[in-house]
Amino acid sequence: IDAALSDGPLKGKHILVTSGPTHEPIDPVRYIANRSSGAQGTAIGAALAALGADVTFVTGPADVLPPQGVDVIKVQTAAQMLDAVQSAPAADAAVFAAAVADWRVANAGDSKIKKDGSGLPTLEFAENPDILATVSQMTVGRPKLVVGFAAETDDVIANATAKRLRKGCDWIVANDVSPNTGIMGGKENAVTLISDAGAENWPRMGKEAVATALAKRIAEALA
Ligand code: CTP
Ligand code: CA
Repeated sequence: IDAALSDGPLKGKHILVTSGPTHEPIDPVRYIANRSSGAQGTAIGAALAALGADVTFVTGPADVLPPQGVDVIKVQTAAQMLDAVQSAPAADAAVFAAAVADWRVANAGDSKIKKDGSGLPTLEFAENPDILATVSQMTVGRPKLVVGFAAETDDVIANATAKRLRKGCDWIVANDVSPNTGIMGGKENAVTLISDAGAENWPRMGKEAVATALAKRIAEALA
């Protein structure tokens, strides 16, 4: 480890990060998923590690490679992501940047669904566990700082503020992912940091810059 990094403000802190989408199987060859490149979560993992944190990085099948210098745990489904999060060592802070599929296919099977003339398949859905809410509401061993994301359209701040209270996390990083913003799939992000102190609009900047700013705020909160 680089001496400069091991001296960072997050030295000795363990931080859990979730990133990327989850894939929920329909059959062995098909799945449903959220749209997520994993770029923002990966940048956050890298920024936290750069400040000296020990990072456990739980990632679904992302488009981008996981950051260097973190402990990577690869998962496919939301259920696996929850298991990995619950099996990770106790964390000082946790950042939930993953775009977790809200539903899994309850009638997923081991046999490929065939176009055999017997009609269209019917998928039955079951709701996935809410990983962020589960960790936010832990009564024993809850991280001191729990940070969620809220990718919203329409009433972004109101939706994200309600989401923070409903889930019980400390901060929510909200962003407007309406198609006209060009945020989804892009290199930039324009976020609002919502805490019990209110909503703070950050200027639009690169995802790495958002990650660095967030990592610095986390370091201040844990200091
Ligand atoms: N999240 C999670 N587990 C889930 C769903 C969401 O950990 N099963 C986390 C995401 O990683 C994110 C935050 O919760 O940090 C908000 O996700 P979002 O999809 O915006 O919230 P939902 O509660 O699923 O609400 P919505 O109906 O708007 O999708
Ligand atoms: Ca969701």
